[in-house]
Formats: sequence, C-alpha cells, structure tokens
Amino acid sequence: MSSTRGMFNSRLGFILAAAGSAVGLGNIWGFPTQAAQNGGAAFVLMYLILAFCLAYPAFMAELLIGRYGQANAVASLTKMSNSPAQKKFAFVVGFGGILCAGLLMSFYSIVAGWMIAYTAEPIASAVGADAAASWLTTHAVPRNIIFTAIFSGLTILIIRQGVADGIEKWSKRLMPALIILLVSLTIYVMTLEGASEGLKAYLIPDFSQLFDTQLIVSALGQAFFSLSLGTSVIIVYGSYINRSENIVSLGAYVTLIDVFIAFLAGLLIIPAMYVAQAQGVQIFATDGSLLSGDTLVFAVLPSLFNSMGFVGYFVAFAFFCLMSIAALTSSISMLEAPVSYCVERFNIERKLATVLIGLLIFLISLMIIFNFGQLFGLVIAITTKYGQPIIGMLCCIFVGWIWHRSSILNELKQGNETVEHSLFWKIWPWYTKIVCPLAIGAVFAASL
Ligand code: PHE
Repeated sequence: MSSTRGMFNSRLGFILAAAGSAVGLGNIWGFPTQAAQNGGAAFVLMYLILAFCLAYPAFMAELLIGRYGQANAVASLTKMSNSPAQKKFAFVVGFGGILCAGLLMSFYSIVAGWMIAYTAEPIASAVGADAAASWLTTHAVPRNIIFTAIFSGLTILIIRQGVADGIEKWSKRLMPALIILLVSLTIYVMTLEGASEGLKAYLIPDFSQLFDTQLIVSALGQAFFSLSLGTSVIIVYGSYINRSENIVSLGAYVTLIDVFIAFLAGLLIIPAMYVAQAQGVQIFATDGSLLSGDTLVFAVLPSLFNSMGFVGYFVAFAFFCLMSIAALTSSISMLEAPVSYCVERFNIERKLATVLIGLLIFLISLMIIFNFGQLFGLVIAITTKYGQPIIGMLCCIFVGWIWHRSSILNELKQGNETVEHSLFWKIWPWYTKIVCPLAIGAVFAASL
C-alpha cells in the first residue's frame, strides 16, 4: 500500500505542514486571550511547562504511531495491536480521532469563514461600498453560509491535490506568509501609544494564579488544541514522514514553532488591545476581566483599525488575512484525517473522497449555522473539551501499554541510530506510559 500513498518530499515540507496544522486560530486568537484572562505571564509560564512536559510527549506518541503504521489512524493503531480486543480498542481510538477531526472542521470552517469576510471588509470600505462592508461584518445566516462554503471549498481544493502537491506545497507557501504578516503587524503595533502597557499586562506574571486549577485546565486544553492532538491528524501526518528522518527532532521543531508563534501572537494581540484602549475603545468587561472571544476579534480590534484612518484598511486586511491563512493550514489537516481513512479503507479515489467528505462536513456546518445557539458551543465542547484530551490520553496508553518497547525503539532508531543512548529514550517511554495518561486524566477530571 505504501508505494501508492503520498509522502512529504522534504523535511522542511513536513515541518511546515505539521506546524501549519498546529498554528491556527488557537495560537493567534485563543492563546493571547487566555493568557490575558489567566494572569498574563503566569499562564504563559504554565503553558510552556505543559506544552513541553505533556503535550510534546503526547505529540511524539501520535507522530510515532503514524510513522510506524505508514497508514491512516485506524490502520496504524491496528498494526500495533496484538489481540482482537486490542484491535477493537485501536478502532475506537483511531476512528474517534477521525470523527473528532471532522467535527472540529465543521465549526472551525464557520469561524474561518468570518475571518475571510472580515478580510474582504476593508476592501469594501476602502472603495466606498459601505452596504457591502456592513453586510460582511454582520452576523447573519446567508453571510455565514457563503463564507463557510468559500473556506471549505479552499480546504477541499488543497486536499484534493494530495500530500506533496496539496498539503506540502500550500504549507510551504502559506506558512512563510503567515510569519511575515505576524512579525510585521507586531512590530507596527509596538510603535503605537499604549502598547507598552499591554506588554506589561502580558509579560509581568501574577504568580498568585500559577497553580489555579482553572489556569492549569485552560493551559492544558490550549496546549492540546494547539498541537492538534487527539484528532488523529498528527498520526496521519506522521505516516507521511520518510523513515530516514529523525522523528524526535522533527517533533521538537514543530512544538517549538507552535509555542513560539503563540507567544508572538500574544505580543501582537495584547498590546493591540491596550492601544485600542488608548484610542478610547473599551477593553474590559464590567467584571474587570479583559474582553476576549469574539468581542475581542470582531469588535475591539476592528474599532482599533477604524481609529487608524487610511492605514487601518491595510492593517485590518493584513490581520484578517493572517487569521484566514492560519485557519486554512489547520483545516487542511482536519480534512486529511477522514480522507486518508476513506481512501485507504474503502479504496476510494482521493479526489472523490475529498469532495464527498468535504461536503458532508459542510452539511454539519450548515446544521450548526441554522441552530447556532444550541449547537455551536456544544460542538466546540464535545471536540475540544472531551474528545481531544480523551483520545490524546488513549494514544499515550496505546504507545505505553500496548506497543512493545523493542518495537518502539526500533521505530525511533530509523533516522536516529543513537537514540537508545539519548535523554529522550531515558525519559519519554515511561513518561508516556505513566505520567502523561495520569496527568491528562487528572486535568481532564478537574475540568468537569
Ligand atoms: N491546532 C489548531 C489551532 O491551533 C487547531 C487544530 C486542532 C487543528 C485539531 C487540527 C486538529 O488552531
């Protein structure tokens, strides 16, 4: 089978594709606002600890499952199983992850659709099409349907092209664009009045909150979402890595890029909020907490852009372009998870499978759009609060308790001959076996 499967052509291609999956709305929107709400640098610190101590080992577990299996998530996990009961367990974990990825895409593409609409808005405003501009920014069913369709269509177009010509090629184009936009916007915002106050709010820790349960739960949830764990996405991307690659360092690069971009996004968003405050925009809710969620992105920041005069059109366009690109490189990974399964399991041609599954997910998005109040928050909770931690934990259990240690070592040695003597091999196996499942389980229980 492996000869007909796609593969990433280069190491850089994999790093950018996996970083593209990891870097998304979670980094640029979720991370900064969570940090602002949970004690600034105290949250950043806890996030760094959890990202490297819990999320990175879990990320490695998923990556390794995929590279060993060289197949979709269900087939890769089944290949590691030794008994019929384990094979059933493999199916539940693998298929659960695939479902989670599909459901995630159903709400993610709605939010990403808003980002595209807000990217178009400054263009409409700049040419004086005020009615169009206000339609683009008003929360309404027709707009949501059109822009979710546009975003889902883009995702489908890329995934139809396959691993090297779709995912890898587009990640190589979009990720550098994302980094350039992010850095330029951050530098620009730093020059504005009020930015330094935002920097203080972001970087001066309130250590009294460090061990707050809510802070820890939020930080772990954020780290799991951000590294795309528990969705079988990383298993699938891992299955497209060449056996000659050193997977331990590849995983570390992706984690570092993901954490770094989240941190950088904080340097943009929090100071931008305080710049908005200096312009008279309200940034605190009545209870004194910093405004977050959609109010932040769709009210506070647009008010800031408006107050900037003509340059504001460019800044608004660049900012929402950044959001849209970040969302696109993540959504392609969400679609790839079910597509790879259907292509390999049912022998369906990739282009057809992509369109069918893409349309199915779009139908779920439509259901959410039509029942927004009831379904939007629910789907987010099912996938990010329950699905991802549970499946991520089960993947660690799979690697720690079901996969043979010698077989793990053998897989790690491909592309990394000396791994047996490394610190990674001394720590990671027992860590994934015991510490990760217990810690993830404890944090999950605390969140309920
Ligand atoms: N990691 C992405 C983000 O931070 C979201 C994502 C979750 C992507 C799960 C794929 C799978 O926005």
